[in-house]
Amino acid sequence: DKGNHRHFMAKEIAEQPETVSHTLAHYIDLSNETVSLRESLPFDFAELSRLTITACGTAYYAGLVAKYWFERYARLAVDVDVASEFRYREPPLAENGLTLVISQSGETADTLAALRYSAREGQHIAALVNVQESTIARESHVVFPTLCGPEIGVASTKAFTAQLTALASLVIAAGEARGVLSASRAHELVRALIELPSAISEALRHEKSIEGLARQLARASDVLYLGRGQMFPLALEGALKLKEISYIHAEGYAAGELKHGPIALVNEEMPVVVVAPSDELMEKTLSNMHEVAARGGKIILITDAEGVAEAGDGISDIIEMPRVHPFVAPILASIPVQLLAYHTAVFMGTDVDQPRNLAKSVTVE
Ligand code: F6R
Repeated sequence: DKGNHRHFMAKEIAEQPETVSHTLAHYIDLSNETVSLRESLPFDFAELSRLTITACGTAYYAGLVAKYWFERYARLAVDVDVASEFRYREPPLAENGLTLVISQSGETADTLAALRYSAREGQHIAALVNVQESTIARESHVVFPTLCGPEIGVASTKAFTAQLTALASLVIAAGEARGVLSASRAHELVRALIELPSAISEALRHEKSIEGLARQLARASDVLYLGRGQMFPLALEGALKLKEISYIHAEGYAAGELKHGPIALVNEEMPVVVVAPSDELMEKTLSNMHEVAARGGKIILITDAEGVAEAGDGISDIIEMPRVHPFVAPILASIPVQLLAYHTAVFMGTDVDQPRNLAKSVTVE
């Protein structure tokens, strides 16, 4: 049931304050404001040699964000790869390593094959899934749920933010277990997560102005998305969302890679979406943005009040998000990139919930 929404995707985007809360309630003890895992772990975060994350599509991008988090907040070495590559690379896996597979459906063929390879290699296997009765869940040693309810729209939205929410919780647990996060630092990160659903509600209130910017995107034939650090995966996710539902060609790039090639694409016809909420890397991303603007590129900047102040004059198309702790900023930034893609697709008149050539669950390789 779409309720009063035009598409399942619109409904699923709008639901995210609740679905993120619901997922959080599973991982966080809200009275003590601590992470409290209900799953008993068949491994010890403190003893892990390495974490390998493997997944496909949007779930892979959730894994990429988690890599930045696990490295920074838990000082855990992380490899991330798309499952279709991982399974045939046959990578050597370290003793006492953990493989974490991420899948909304729990049935993705390549992800399942990557899981089976890791199991044969003697890894601990954890799965982050939305469908708890799935094959991937059944074959894992521990299952972490994303509790966002069934996702109907082919383009993943609420499953992505639920994956990130669960991953953020696991990162805090790992950081504490590994002695990297003090109790007060862990509490600061938990608070950031607890405050996130209301920030998502606030972000959703910008839908009308995002719709206006989508009208411009709908006229483009190519769109570039840029982000740095933990916002780089959000640039990739923004580009994926746009191409799969609007059929407009889009690419996500690490902002620092711009001058190594893609800046040659920039002209007056090329919208460039820059994902840069305030954190210690924002200034660097904004300076890349100005390089694009100086070559006539049309910028759409996703940032917060501090970023608006830093961006300076000449950047008129800004999506201003509420200011949140940088830790949770990638989760919040999902909202504007989803809305931009959604409204662009609606202007293009595509079949938003059932884009051409795509299936919700990819059970063949
Ligand atoms: C993109 C999208 C796909 C899926 C991918 C993995 O919007 O939905 O890229 O994320 O097919 O699917 P799951 O998570 O079911 O393994």
